[in-house]
Amino acid sequence: MSLTGMNPILMTIPESFESERLIIRAPLYGDGAAVNEAIIESIEELRPWMPWANKIPTIEESEINVRQSRLEFLERTDLRLLLFHKETGRLVGSSGLHRMDWQARNFETGYWVRTSYEGQGYITEAVEAITNFAIQELEANRIEIRCDARNKRSANVAERSGFTLEGILRSEKRAADGSLRDTRIYSKVRGVEF
Ligand SMILES: CC(C)(COP(=O)(O)OP(=O)(O)OC[C@H]1O[C@@H](n2cnc3c(N)ncnc32)[C@H](O)[C@@H]1OP(=O)(O)O)[C@@H](O)C(=O)NCCC(=O)NCCS
Repeated sequence: MSLTGMNPILMTIPESFESERLIIRAPLYGDGAAVNEAIIESIEELRPWMPWANKIPTIEESEINVRQSRLEFLERTDLRLLLFHKETGRLVGSSGLHRMDWQARNFETGYWVRTSYEGQGYITEAVEAITNFAIQELEANRIEIRCDARNKRSANVAERSGFTLEGILRSEKRAADGSLRDTRIYSKVRGVEF
């Protein structure tokens, strides 16, 4: 059955799938401690780009955040996905499909990596798997990546994963340091990139 027009709450969406080295799954109650540990390890790298990283969260705050993400996943209002290393079970980072338009089947993906797993291709691997998940399970027509134009590592992920740069929105947002930032918009659309 085509998903177009269906209330997304009725959709059966797998909560877990795999890539070569990762288990990619919806957050579960109890994931807060692992998320908190990864954020604390990575806070200096996260701070310039992620507005929520301006202060170190407590374990309880991370658990609240994970539980809220789980509820949003079940409501289909935001599909956060945590990335776990298959071999060790450690949390590698966080990604997901956000700011969706279920009518148009548009999704935005975002990501951060735990610092000890940076530079090893895990995020590119996750973005490719999540993009395929969106295409196959959610009938995506468009998947978008937005990043601060100064965030070269993030732009590299988009480009390495075969996204096309559509444009740059000038002075579009306040960056974490209070400066105005330009935003690079990348996408993959049905009929062109897939
Ligand atoms: C943006 C961010 C997720 C990118 O992480 P990353 O580790 O550079 O990305 P990947 O996991 O895809 O790794 C790519 C790197 O691994 C290398 N690599 C090693 N093995 C690889 C493999 N099998 N496949 C692909 N790349 C591989 C690549 O050459 C690349 O190295 P380089 O940075 O020296 O060019 C990370 O910098 C981050 O979390 N930043 C803070 C949060 C943030 O900015 N998020 C994005 C907001 S828009």
